Amino acid sequence: MAHQGSYQVETFAVGLDHEIRRLNAQVDLFWTSERTALERAGLQGAMDVLDCGCGPGRLIELLKNDNPSLRLTGLEIDPVLVDAATARFRSLGIDDCTVVQGSAEQTGLAPGSFDFIVMRLVLEHVPDPVLALRSLRTLLRPGGRIAVISNDFEFHERTWPPVPELDDLYEAYCASRRADGGDPCIGRRLPALLHEAGFSLVGFETETAHSNMIGDQAFFLAEGAGIPAQLVQDGFLAESVFERMVESWRTMLEHPDHAIIRPLFVGVGENPDPQHQAAQGPLSAGVEAPPLRHDLEFVAPSTDLERQIAEIWAEIIGVEQVGVTNNFFDLGGNSLMLEQIQIRLEELLDADLALTVLFQFPTVASLAASREALDVADRPTPADRDTGSAPNPSTTSGAAVSPEAVSAQAQRRRDAAARRRR
Ligand SMILES: C[S@@+](CC[C@H](N)C(=O)[O-])C[C@H]1O[C@@H](n2cnc3c(N)ncnc32)[C@H](O)[C@@H]1O
Repeated sequence: MAHQGSYQVETFAVGLDHEIRRLNAQVDLFWTSERTALERAGLQGAMDVLDCGCGPGRLIELLKNDNPSLRLTGLEIDPVLVDAATARFRSLGIDDCTVVQGSAEQTGLAPGSFDFIVMRLVLEHVPDPVLALRSLRTLLRPGGRIAVISNDFEFHERTWPPVPELDDLYEAYCASRRADGGDPCIGRRLPALLHEAGFSLVGFETETAHSNMIGDQAFFLAEGAGIPAQLVQDGFLAESVFERMVESWRTMLEHPDHAIIRPLFVGVGENPDPQHQAAQGPLSAGVEAPPLRHDLEFVAPSTDLERQIAEIWAEIIGVEQVGVTNNFFDLGGNSLMLEQIQIRLEELLDADLALTVLFQFPTVASLAASREALDVADRPTPADRDTGSAPNPSTTSGAAVSPEAVSAQAQRRRDAAARRRR
């Protein structure tokens, strides 16, 4: 069995019961946003789902209530928590969810037996995150997905008015977790770690809890003073800082406009289907392609510009055809391809094209419309010719481009053309 890294339920905060209550509250804190984040990640009815590092089982309980057709299993390294989750399910009459004892690294579960894995607030504690993710990947069927939900302590809970001592607390917390082999700032690394473990990356987002939406109490229950008190006991945080923090926290709560906010990071990886992968081949720079969508509606280009843009996209994304309403990212496009497309479009249009424009207009139709607007804007209108005044962006087609953006873009184009002439 792998060792437990930087999380042990009995010593993480002051007391086992307190810590179990805190873990449950931490699931509740994010449930509203997490439920939809998991749906977006692909979790849906009648799937075989594993909650890896399920703790006392609160997430399983909520998922089961929300969607009774999910077939849920918990995996938990700590026998104390296996027992706590099992007892909880029994008391709630949930008799079709089991919790097995095992680690992410050595699960003991049958390969290819799950459609979806959730790993919530666990990866930041394991000594070798890639090893753990690789092992979990073997449990997924081809095309199955994992949603890894993690903290990143540089983006942890913040307040208005600020509680300055939170900086000291997070520094102490990070030092303590690192001393045990964890990485409390792992949130930002999720895409790279999923990729290294052989997943194709299909999503990365943050979910957020805000006190104006869920009240102050939810934060108190989820954080409480248990962890800071333990950090004081373990010598990572000075007692005087802890006392000041309690005072600042109280003052913050008295402010009429006070706010508490906390984000979590969600990385979603897909276990590539080997047949699908062989057909596509790897992309440049070792980035695997997300599966291409062949079920997208095809609307043919209707102008020369649309046809030219669609041809460039198709060539660079590696698909047979691109409809003018297809979203670049749904087609399997990624940021590396965007840069290649930027270069090709600049050649085609003989103009500078900011990458942000490509994000802003992610379909051929919207991009062509924005370019037509810019082209027209750049040409003098009959009235401009009469008066010799500057082009009038408001006389351009109805594309959703602000006049400021149009004139800034037109200026960049003129500057670029001048640079090329030099
Ligand atoms: C912070 S708790 C999170 C619990 C639960 N997922 C939640 O969101 O409330 C971390 C959990 O991961 C478990 N854990 C730690 N290392 C593990 C490993 N290598 N494999 C499986 N579980 C592990 C711990 O025992 C603990 O239950």
